[in-house]
Amino acid sequence: MSKPQNNEQKPHQPRKEMSRRQFLSYTLGGASAFMFVGPAIPMVRFAVDPLLQKKTEGNYIKVAEVSKITNEPQEFTFDVTQIDGWYESKPQLVAWISKDENGDIFALSPVCKHLGCTVNWNSNPKYKDQYFCMCHGAHYTKEGKQLAVARAPLDEYKVKIENGFVYLGDKIPNQHVQ
Ligand code: FES
Repeated sequence: MSKPQNNEQKPHQPRKEMSRRQFLSYTLGGASAFMFVGPAIPMVRFAVDPLLQKKTEGNYIKVAEVSKITNEPQEFTFDVTQIDGWYESKPQLVAWISKDENGDIFALSPVCKHLGCTVNWNSNPKYKDQYFCMCHGAHYTKEGKQLAVARAPLDEYKVKIENGFVYLGDKIPNQHVQ
C-alpha cells in the first residue's frame, strides 16, 4: 500500500520589499566603507612592508682575490647593505683575512670582544704576530683566540670561495678556536 501523497501546496508568501530607507542606508554604508577602506589598504601595506620583505641572510659579498690571500692576515674592507625597517644603509665593514695551518682561508671580524673597539694585526711590538686592541690591551692569536682582557675569541665571517674570489657572508662565532 503506497503512502498518500501530500499534494497540498504551501500558501503563497508575499516577497519582502526593501524599503527606500533600507536601500539608502545600504548604499551609503557600502560607499562609506569603500571610501575609508580603499585608501587605508596602501597605508597598511606600507606599515607592514618590512615584515613582508625577504631576509637578506645568506648573502655573500665579493671581497678579495684568492691569489692575494697569504698566511699573514691582511685587512680588507667591503660594503654591505643593511635594511633596518624602512631605513637602508651601506656601512663599510672590515675583515682580516688569512690562511690557517691547513691552507684554508678564514676571515676574522676586527671587533674586540671586550667592549667593541677595533683590533689590528701586529700593531703592538709587545704582542708580535697577534691582534691587539689599544682600548684596554686585549690581544688575540692569529686564529682569534683571546689571550688577555677579552673573554671570547674574535668572531669570524662565513667564507665562500668561487671563481677565484673570496666571498664573505654573515658574522658567526669563531670556528677555529674553542
Ligand atoms: S675594547 Fe678592546 S680591550 Fe677593551
